[in-house]
Order: sequence, then structure tokens, then C-alpha cells
Amino acid sequence: MENKETLIDNVIENPNSLDIITINIIDVDDTRYILRTLVHQNQNLMEVFREVEFAMGHCGGMALCASCHCYIESSHCLNNIDLEEESMLDQLQNINCEKSRLICQIPMNKSLDGIVIRIVRD
Ligand code: FES
Repeated sequence: MENKETLIDNVIENPNSLDIITINIIDVDDTRYILRTLVHQNQNLMEVFREVEFAMGHCGGMALCASCHCYIESSHCLNNIDLEEESMLDQLQNINCEKSRLICQIPMNKSLDGIVIRIVRD
């Protein structure tokens, strides 16, 4: 049976005509969401997830807790993994060398449009 996707519309108003992107989220229980959200500069993706009540971000986005561990399930080209993120990922049970990222280390960007993110619990 096909999983239904629930729309989360995080665009209440857009007075500055910011870009709007769609993020596909697969939660740990396999529930699927389509998140429609604005692209604010200087925001990371974890901050957006928290805005819509996903529980993550215990370290405040410092790459120290891995509460935001995910697999990137689409072929989007993302920013490089830096040393802090790599050393956190290396400590995780469920690391997937090709797909694992920390959501807090991904800057919001128009090019994330359509990305598929599976949230992982370690
Ligand atoms: S919020 Fe702690 S590692 Fe991302």
C-alpha cells in the first residue's frame, strides 16, 4: 500500500517574496510529509524542521548531538561535510556513508527544492 503524504504548509505570508521550496520528509515511523517553506538566508534546515515541530536540535545546531541525523534519499548536491559533522557522524550506529548528514549542517538554499530527507534515530 502506498504511504500517504501530509502537507505541512509553513508559508503563512511572504511579504518579501522569498523563494519557496518543497522538502519531502520521511519520519522515523515512515510517515511522509511534504513541507512547503520559505528560504530565509542564514537559516539552517534544522531550524526549519523545528519550526514545524520536529523534535531535534538538542545541541542547538553545533554538530554535537546527532538528534538531527538523516539520510538524504534524493540526488541533491549539498554543501560539503566539514570535520565537526564528520566526527559526529562517525560515532553513530546507523551511519550510511553515502546518505548520512546532520540536518543542522545544511544551510537553507533554493537548490534544496524537492529534496527527500529520511530522519534517522540512532
Ligand atoms: S542539532 Fe545537534 S547535531 Fe544537529
